[in-house]
Amino acid sequence: MVVTELSQQHIPRHIAIIMDGNGRWAQLRGKPRTDGHRRGIEAVKDIVDASIEFGVKYLTLFAFSSENWKRPSVEVDDLMWLLRRFLQSETETMHRKNVRIRVIGDRSNFSSDIVKLIEHSEEKTLGNDGLYLTAALSYGGRQEIISAVKNLYKDVIDGKLLYENIDTKIFTDYLATSDIPDPDLLIRTSGEKRISNFLLWQIAYTELVFSEVLWPDFKRENLALAIEEYNRRERRFGEVMV
Ligand code: IPE
Ligand code: IPE
Ligand code: MG
Repeated sequence: MVVTELSQQHIPRHIAIIMDGNGRWAQLRGKPRTDGHRRGIEAVKDIVDASIEFGVKYLTLFAFSSENWKRPSVEVDDLMWLLRRFLQSETETMHRKNVRIRVIGDRSNFSSDIVKLIEHSEEKTLGNDGLYLTAALSYGGRQEIISAVKNLYKDVIDGKLLYENIDTKIFTDYLATSDIPDPDLLIRTSGEKRISNFLLWQIAYTELVFSEVLWPDFKRENLALAIEEYNRRERRFGEVMV
């Protein structure tokens, strides 16, 4: 398999993934959607390990969107249960692997015990400098931009920021991702070819790779294939290559 040849490839510094297809994975097997989400969590663990192995520095995973709250309450409850369990059981493991955990998204929608677990994971792993893992939970790109605009506006009124000085660099400082570089590679699984309100600002020049594989089946080899695809691309950033 390709993985052995990955050493010759340029590894993207930041990979973002829209982990899609859990429901269809379960449906194909005549199982409840929750089973797909459960297996999706196993795929997360595999991909975190593979990212560490490949030398990826930043991994950002879209796990639950602002719009996913509109799903049937039984599914939302199951997802919250799985999130709770993941944070409880994986924080220590991630810590041992030198992973730094960060969560972006609107926490006000989560129950207070989940907020506490998120804070615990972030605090526990704060000093780690291996893989920088960002989980997008209750996250929407548009909501993130609006929140940035509000905070920026407040700083202008308070006299902390000059209106004339607002530019793309300053604006980026107001986003939840201000301390991490833009993704080099964005992968969406399950064959859907859309962004679904993920990192709208940050993906301006990101390479997009769409995989047909459903998220629970997405393994180390599939990540390697996406990195190979990334290596076949020529990033121009609007310039002319000479
Ligand atoms: C992704 O899988 C996980 C979440 C959005 C929480 P889906 O649940 O969207 O699975 P499909 O797209 O319905 O197959
Ligand atoms: C995007 O998937 C959100 C996550 C993977 C967390 P969705 O399944 O919610 O997106 P749509 O509805 O297909 O656009
Ligand atoms: Mg989906």
